[in-house]
Amino acid sequence: MNFSDLHQQVKAQTDASLLTLIDDLPHYAPRLKDAMRHALLAGGKRMRPLLVQVVGNTLDIPKKDQMAISMAIECIHAYSLVHDDLPAMDDDDLRRGKPTCHIAFDEATAILAGDALQSLAFSVLADAPLSDYAQSQRVRLLSILAKSAGYAGMCGGQAIDLASTGKTISLEELKTLHKLKTGALLKACVEMVATVCESLTDATRTDLMAFATDIGLAFQVQDDILDVEGSSEQLGKPAGSDEALGKNTFPAKLGLEGAKKELDKLHNNALQALSRLPYNTESLIAFSELLVKRDH
Ligand code: IPE
Ligand code: IPE
Ligand code: MG
Ligand code: MG
Ligand code: MG
Repeated sequence: MNFSDLHQQVKAQTDASLLTLIDDLPHYAPRLKDAMRHALLAGGKRMRPLLVQVVGNTLDIPKKDQMAISMAIECIHAYSLVHDDLPAMDDDDLRRGKPTCHIAFDEATAILAGDALQSLAFSVLADAPLSDYAQSQRVRLLSILAKSAGYAGMCGGQAIDLASTGKTISLEELKTLHKLKTGALLKACVEMVATVCESLTDATRTDLMAFATDIGLAFQVQDDILDVEGSSEQLGKPAGSDEALGKNTFPAKLGLEGAKKELDKLHNNALQALSRLPYNTESLIAFSELLVKRDH
């Protein structure tokens, strides 16, 4: 199967499983359930499930373990977007080509949908059927997810993003911000898969995590570049939002060309880390390529 077919397959599988996850919830709070479905299923490139699958296939991880990790990560990701779009944060009205959750519903429902999606992520990871080895690592998986979503990861990064908006920060501080708000969850995808691989050596784990750190940061650099270069139609979210808000971004700090050079550097570092792995890394290379060349 070529890489683009694999991505389509991951998208379809992820969408179907997330839909079942929501539909299976009891129906006593239908508006909240609708808002959660809207947040989870209104499109989305499913880059994190794709990353889980690509790393998982490379390390020969059972599908059910990959699926549990993907579902949990995608719930956290969807929640982070719902809250990121709220008036108190980026105040955006378009997401994945549709009205953001608080526009389609209302602010209180959007806040609750984010909260409930976050809890759902941990329920999924706590309760999903896993292989015997992954089962023995379940608490470790929950710990990685919790850390990457919270203060030491996404939430911490979002807090630095808000605190530094409209202010000048150093390149190092900008990298920390991006590594936390976006890199942490992408890194967690790789770390969770590595954790359920019984035969992984320390050296391979180190190289995999170096790869994950570089692509995690690269993902947000490309997001920032697209915010400048893309159209709202192509992105499915408001273009130019960062500049309008006075956000700290790579293009704002280094100029568009400087940001693209930084992206190239991160891409090359990621490829170097991959070249040290004792596996066929063809699909990991393709994933890195997709990440830096994507147009939305
Ligand atoms: C957007 O993430 C927010 C960032 C963390 C940069 P994605 O670009 O993965 O968004 P979807 O899931 O495809 O909509
Ligand atoms: C990603 O940053 C923030 C999250 C952790 C959700 P952005 O604010 O740049 O994401 P978009 O551009 O709105 O998707
Ligand atoms: Mg934001
Ligand atoms: Mg935003
Ligand atoms: Mg952005």
